[in-house]
Amino acid sequence: KVVAVIMVGGPTKGTSFRPLSFNTPKPLFPLAGQPMVHHPISACKRIPNLAQIYLIGFHEEREFSLYVSSISNELKLPVRYLKEDKPHGSAGGLYYFRDIIMEDSPSHIFLLNCDVCCSFPLPAMLEAHKRYSGIGTMLVIKVSAESASQFGELVADPVTNELLHYTEKPETFVSDLINCGVYLFTPEIFTAIQNAIFDREDRANLRRVYSFETLQSTRTLPADFVRLDQDILSPLAGKKKLYTYETKDFWEQIKTPGMSLKCSELYLAQFRFTSPDLLASGDGKKNATIVGDVYIHPSAKVHHTAKIGSNVSVSANVRVGAGARLINCIILDDVEIKENAVVINSIVGWKSSIGKWSRVQADGNYNAKLGITILGEAVAVEDEVVVINSIVLPNKTLNVSVQEEIIL
Ligand code: GDD
Repeated sequence: KVVAVIMVGGPTKGTSFRPLSFNTPKPLFPLAGQPMVHHPISACKRIPNLAQIYLIGFHEEREFSLYVSSISNELKLPVRYLKEDKPHGSAGGLYYFRDIIMEDSPSHIFLLNCDVCCSFPLPAMLEAHKRYSGIGTMLVIKVSAESASQFGELVADPVTNELLHYTEKPETFVSDLINCGVYLFTPEIFTAIQNAIFDREDRANLRRVYSFETLQSTRTLPADFVRLDQDILSPLAGKKKLYTYETKDFWEQIKTPGMSLKCSELYLAQFRFTSPDLLASGDGKKNATIVGDVYIHPSAKVHHTAKIGSNVSVSANVRVGAGARLINCIILDDVEIKENAVVINSIVGWKSSIGKWSRVQADGNYNAKLGITILGEAVAVEDEVVVINSIVLPNKTLNVSVQEEIIL
């Protein structure tokens, strides 16, 4: 049997995702119309002999309970949310729930970060892992040398694919091959984490004996806080225990709202192959004109003279008026877009409204701070107002045009 664990983190981790993480936990933020965590979960459906999916995090239980029960029904597979009382780190969280995870006596455990966007080639990883016979196989990808330092950089043996060297977010360049945050382990991983905890306790005791405590204590993490990258992958590299599987497909990390727009686009494109029924179609007669990949929730009401796409996701209960034009944007639940309004390269928060002939837009540079315009929850843009490259915090009313501003 195989189980899958998806690390969903907790509220303190979501600060770079503001103002969109104020009242929706980041893992439930919609990409291509589906909660972020839905994409790795549905990828797990392709794992042979999958017994359970666990989400591990320290978000409030109630925020996940509804989602977890609906996705369990949909997949006909148990999905459980396991809540940590405090953050234990990416490996510590897994270890904390080891007894529950081992209940089904799985031979293999997939471990996925929830904030990565990729095709999750899980069955292929499982095949490769069985050939390597190590305790873990990690998904890796080549990125540009300039961007590599934001990730774990690694060196792998070109013939055996063994992980030879691993450094988390190094200051000087090591390699353009990086860690994708998608792993497959045998249950031996729990022994490795336990050893890391024992080592740390030993070191803490030594420090007490030699009374270095005051000197060192600020740098000491709690014994049960274990990071998968620094505390497990780095020390196990080069010991014939860890192997790599390189993906040539798409991969991105979702740390900012700008990247969520980019990842929405990647997932919409993937729907062409995996779920074409989720993509909207229309020709401007009975339904709106659709350009490229677009998701429209069945409860949304879009006027047939509107033109939508490409890369647009329209969530539940949205209303889009006559002559409106939407390009490269995410429109969240209960938004109203009035007649002839234009939204380009933007994310429009829940319950916001955009007035007639208004424009909400940006230049679309995903990596720049103000490269996409973001309206927080319940923002009202009045008629004929233009909002360019700006971030607007929740509950604001804009009656004058703004450019390159953060409206607090
Ligand atoms: N449950 C739980 N508890 N989850 C956690 C905790 C915790 O205490 N800490 C982190 N996570 C989750 C995050 O939500 C995320 O899904 C994953 O674990 C990794 O988060 P971080 O440890 O903050 O690392 P990162 O995202 O900056 O970088 C990691 O992922 C990159 C790929 O996206 C590293 O492993 C990098 O090497 C890697 O390139």
